[in-house]
Amino acid sequence: MKVLLSEIENHITPHALEEAQELVSATQEYEINQVEEGYYHCISRQPDYHVEITIKNDGIAIPKCHCTVFKKTRQCRHAIAALLLLRDQILRNLRSKKKSNHEFQATDEVLRKLNVTQLRSFLSSYALSHSTFRAEVLSNFLHLTRTPDYHSLFMDIAPLDKYGQVRLNRNSIKTVRGVSSTLLKHAQQFLKERALAETLRILEATILHLHRLFVKVPQFQEQLMVEMRMAYKIFDGLCSQAMAPRLQIRAINLALDICNRDGYTFPTGMKPLLAIIEPFILEEKTRKSAFILAEKKVQSENSQLIQWASLLLRWTRLWSINISNPAIRKKIQKHLPSVILENNQQGRHEDVLYLVDQVKPDEYSDAIQKVILQTGLRSAKQVGSEEVMIKLAYVLSLNHLDIDSWLFLHEKDPGKAQRILSIIEDMYQPGSDSSADELLLNGWQFTRKGGSIIQRIKAMDQSERLMEFDFMLKDKFRTELETAYAEHIISVRSAYGGIIARQKLNNIFGHLKAMDLFSSVALKIKEMEKEKQDEPTQDNHTIKGFVFDLDGVIVDTAVHHFQSWKKIMKELGIEISDSDDHHTRGAGRMESLEYLLDTYHVILSEEEKQFWASRKNDIYVDAIGGITPSDLLPGALIFLQASRDLGLKLALGSASKNARPVIKKLGVESYFDAVLDGNSAEKSKPDPEIFLNAASALRLDPAEVVVFEDAAKGVQAALAAGCYAVGIGDPSSLSAAQIVIPGLDHSNPSRIIELLS
Ligand code: G6P
Ligand code: MG
Repeated sequence: MKVLLSEIENHITPHALEEAQELVSATQEYEINQVEEGYYHCISRQPDYHVEITIKNDGIAIPKCHCTVFKKTRQCRHAIAALLLLRDQILRNLRSKKKSNHEFQATDEVLRKLNVTQLRSFLSSYALSHSTFRAEVLSNFLHLTRTPDYHSLFMDIAPLDKYGQVRLNRNSIKTVRGVSSTLLKHAQQFLKERALAETLRILEATILHLHRLFVKVPQFQEQLMVEMRMAYKIFDGLCSQAMAPRLQIRAINLALDICNRDGYTFPTGMKPLLAIIEPFILEEKTRKSAFILAEKKVQSENSQLIQWASLLLRWTRLWSINISNPAIRKKIQKHLPSVILENNQQGRHEDVLYLVDQVKPDEYSDAIQKVILQTGLRSAKQVGSEEVMIKLAYVLSLNHLDIDSWLFLHEKDPGKAQRILSIIEDMYQPGSDSSADELLLNGWQFTRKGGSIIQRIKAMDQSERLMEFDFMLKDKFRTELETAYAEHIISVRSAYGGIIARQKLNNIFGHLKAMDLFSSVALKIKEMEKEKQDEPTQDNHTIKGFVFDLDGVIVDTAVHHFQSWKKIMKELGIEISDSDDHHTRGAGRMESLEYLLDTYHVILSEEEKQFWASRKNDIYVDAIGGITPSDLLPGALIFLQASRDLGLKLALGSASKNARPVIKKLGVESYFDAVLDGNSAEKSKPDPEIFLNAASALRLDPAEVVVFEDAAKGVQAALAAGCYAVGIGDPSSLSAAQIVIPGLDHSNPSRIIELLS
């Protein structure tokens, strides 16, 4: 049976046609593949028939069916149905290429009326044209011709002038992109139909020309990348097929040629062409030249250095070739972490593991090493390499205190994981490194080591964190848990007292109630407090008295002192520095003046000094004129009262001659058993005189006295007197004191005594 596709109806009987049309509408699952130029397979699965169709140059179609009817009669309903289906598909293809362009629609109309032979002659008559319109038509139909010449098509639309420059503008770039994407769509279709040679032919031309233009017209690079990306995807798809050796060689040559060009760039997120054809490079010689090319890229390339470096390293692994140039080796070593991440991103896990093994630990920071090892562990999981997984998880948990890795290790090798916990416990003091603490707490939670958790949290001095774990501890470690909570509550109470303690503990109380632990902990507290009372009271009366400095401890007048100094020095024509406060604070009036005059090289007679000292005092007295009890520093009154309640003896020990009127105005005079002021000692602090005098006024040994001071000079004086010193204010300047607190509101008398004893 031979028939023109456009005239099937005229060549067969109406009955046969009807039968065939019925079959066509019953055909649900079928495909028509173009095996080669002019040769198609029509395969229907439901109903089952298989027809091969050859279309000769003159457009005559010759079907061949595999059924017995056809073998006997050379015609069957399958053959006719297949011809009808093929004709439909060809028409559909033509129709799908229809563009909105009006002119184009007209052409399409005409083309639809043509048979394949007529179409071929139409195309060949336009093959050499280079107008935009024709280029588009050609890109649509060129593949139907016997020897499609894609190169000429590209040269036509982007020709070089006599200086070798491409003449391209915004419009022609549109044409180039249109043509490229049309051709690439055909390539994609060919690839689907497994017409690999055809696919490669289109790719060769498209990739080559896109690269050529990419370099020649940099202003359009971003636009050209869109089609380039598509071309790379199809090339990648093509190269993953089983290709004939001669096609493989063509693909290799294409890749070598393009990659070797100056300014070669591949689309971001993709790999260079050479990486795509890697599976085909089998010959030693070709490997060598690809390797050298990649080395060259690493040496020069900067924007895509990481990708080239990763390819090069991959080849050292796969092909056992070494990088001979030490400069390249060094450059790669520097970028190794990025190369590892790149390989991870590309899903090349074997490469990741190979590279992680090459990392020299001391070349990178801890954080980078951690990321590298984590990446390695992820790849080892992908590759399923048990031994490597355990090795990496071990290092990550031990050296980088990585909890996830530890959990993973525990799953794989509980013994090793256990050992890590013991090493870390020995290595890090509780509270000294939060990551170590976290790892231990997590690990113990996992291995149900409740006792260790409680102990560590207590030693970290963060007992409120028990709340995170008590859910698991409640059953097996109930007693330990209750004791820990009780101890914590007692210590907060004694450190802060009343309201503040209650505020701080509110959260825990609520939690304990919810966990049904409240009453048992309360009972425990009672027991513990009773035990404490029953303890034979040792002589903890070593501390029997407190001596308070005034300015800066009980009242905030220290600023006024310094402001007054500033003022009179300004009157003397000098701008003093804020750091001078450190030297005048605590020192007597005259001593402070002497210090300032000395520091700023001001020479005054004795009378003048007297004048300026009393001028400073006038200004100061003026400044504190309106002082009232509300000027007491926070916590001062409560502290004085609590000290009294404890039965301690109290004294004031200030260098200020204004001390008495000030405490009177503050309303705290009655708290003191003795008041020592600027008139009570001859020598100024840091001399111990004033505190020795204070201790003896209280009839106490200085060793039984605690001095509260805001000035470094005062702390020095207290210690020199043999008293305890509590610094009030900035720990950096008061570090000599046994205890430093920000203010009296931050502690209470019993806590201070407890800490000092
Ligand atoms: C306190 C202040 C000092 C001041 C000294 C003398 O100790 O800390 O800055 O110089 O008293 O004060 P007066 O009121 O006697 O000048
Ligand atoms: Mg002071």
